[in-house]
Amino acid sequence: MDAKDMQPETLLAQAGGAIDLASGGVVPPIQPSTTFARGEDYQPINPANTYARDHNDAVRQAEAVLSQLEGGEAALLFPTGMAAIAALFRTVPNGGRVIVQSGIYWGATKWIRDFCERRQVVMDEVDASDSAALRAACEAGPAQIVWVETPSNPWLRITDIAAAAEAAKQAGALLAVDSTAASPLLSNPLKLGADVVMHSTTKVINGHSDVLGGVLVTRERTPVWEEIAIDRASAGAVMGPFEAWLLLRGMRTLPVRVERMVDNAMKISEFLKDHPRVEAVLYPGVKSHPQHELATKQMPQGYGFLMSFLVKGTREDALRVAGKLKLFHSATSLGGVESLVEHRHTIEPHTGIPESLLRLSIGVEKAEDLIADLGQALGQ
Ligand SMILES: Cc1ncc(COP(=O)(O)O)c(C=O)c1O
Repeated sequence: MDAKDMQPETLLAQAGGAIDLASGGVVPPIQPSTTFARGEDYQPINPANTYARDHNDAVRQAEAVLSQLEGGEAALLFPTGMAAIAALFRTVPNGGRVIVQSGIYWGATKWIRDFCERRQVVMDEVDASDSAALRAACEAGPAQIVWVETPSNPWLRITDIAAAAEAAKQAGALLAVDSTAASPLLSNPLKLGADVVMHSTTKVINGHSDVLGGVLVTRERTPVWEEIAIDRASAGAVMGPFEAWLLLRGMRTLPVRVERMVDNAMKISEFLKDHPRVEAVLYPGVKSHPQHELATKQMPQGYGFLMSFLVKGTREDALRVAGKLKLFHSATSLGGVESLVEHRHTIEPHTGIPESLLRLSIGVEKAEDLIADLGQALGQ
């Protein structure tokens, strides 16, 4: 069967190709060479490869899978998610304008703010989960990029991607969506009208908390896309073959991991929402979530594995709960097979994150064990 006809589960199970004909192996080989030989006529022996900064088999294989999963025309892998975000924003000319969702991953906000200040780029921050507010920002004048993150980290707000694409068009901007907390299995922004989708592949796509990476996938090969591709090779922001190989290995189990994590997250959200020591649960799967209906429409296969909740009481009460958890590791990041808890206020005290908020990344452990751990930490 041709890869383009495969369901995502099948494509991913054999990510990187079925059989390595040279060895007979059922997984792709790693080619660590940084340079590639030429023949007597001085032509490359393999025309696809000359130097590893421009060409790398494992990177190409992983990009092909990610591009197909998102329904895009091309993908570019970077050494981290932030490198992917930066590569896109660097295409904005000095004096340009970008519209960026407020209350998103703090590392992205911080870098984009600094970048815009250095380059005299106007940055308008707007709650993009409010479609009317986003439309108003887009109608206010032209821009180069509209940047949204859905579900957002750590507020779990949902942005209507189709409405955002329409709004971005008004401003003559491309719509770029950070879909890290959804994964390509739960949401495909390009199919809803976005121009570029981004993932920190450090998170669920690799899924084992052992490889940094980021990807941009484009709907069309535009001049902006070509600029990003040329700059990646020339400026050397490339992923190495070992990382790309590990990423391919991780992706082979993505569907089963996501299915289990989503199932666990639903059960945990049900438990937390009825718990007397919990003030609120921020998870789009909960019916009281303000964008529950939109999330159901936009993410029909599930609401993801990231959630936040507010502990009743003070900062100290929340920190005590985090400290008592035994199965959830107290660590940043998300999307790994192991469950994590994070007190975001400690990381970003100036952004309005409540002091009592704990963010959970739900892993693939048995739901009952995770619920028992939360129960003992909260006090039954
Ligand atoms: C939603 C989101 N986008 C982007 C990033 C940045 O990715 P990386 O850590 O791979 O640079 C993160 C990291 O936590 C994230 O949570």
